[in-house]
Amino acid sequence: MKAGLAVLASGRGSNLQAIIDAWEQGTLPVNMVGVLSNNPQAQALRRAQSHKIPTAVLRSKDYPDRRSYGQALVQQLQAWQADIVALAGFMLLLDPVVIKAFPHRILNIHPALLPSFKGLDAQKQALDYGVCVTGCTVHLVDQDMDTGPIVLQAAVSVKPDDTEDTLAARILKEEHRLYPEAIRLLATGRLKVCGRKVEILDEGGNYLD
Ligand code: GRF
Repeated sequence: MKAGLAVLASGRGSNLQAIIDAWEQGTLPVNMVGVLSNNPQAQALRRAQSHKIPTAVLRSKDYPDRRSYGQALVQQLQAWQADIVALAGFMLLLDPVVIKAFPHRILNIHPALLPSFKGLDAQKQALDYGVCVTGCTVHLVDQDMDTGPIVLQAAVSVKPDDTEDTLAARILKEEHRLYPEAIRLLATGRLKVCGRKVEILDEGGNYLD
């Protein structure tokens, strides 16, 4: 039985597109159960619709507080029978009620090598700091922002003439490769969480050397 995957996205949805592409090519063994956005104008919603994936919009301003927004989110995800949730540019911090409903089942992608450059504008933060190497991180989501156990990372060199846009584009290319891979590992039961560490098991459920 394939895991049900829901994606939460607020904007452009290029990571969602990479996930859809992998799913359609048969390299991501999940059921795409739905795409949810807090933003009715999100391009991510149109991408989902054009692939006949169910969509839903939950606007935070329609709820009195983060807790009740989180409860509505959980209700929708459960109605879709989601087993795992991928945040792909979802711009709201999840209430603990969501984290508790999907323990170690929520992934996020961040455009920096965590724990460096958490939060917004990670590519600009990396350029301003003057690092030579940055990249992207897929991690399990816990109650704080960009702090959960790390699943996969990819490094990207910073070039002397990089702008925020050129650097972001080079990182994005790695994001599109890394995110479907991390979701595949979670969906096929190949991640074992031991405290902060995430072990990747081989296809037989044994530790990789
Ligand atoms: C990506 O850079 C991702 O790492 C960050 O938000 C951005 C979303 O881009 N969390 P897109 O909507 O997937 O194109």
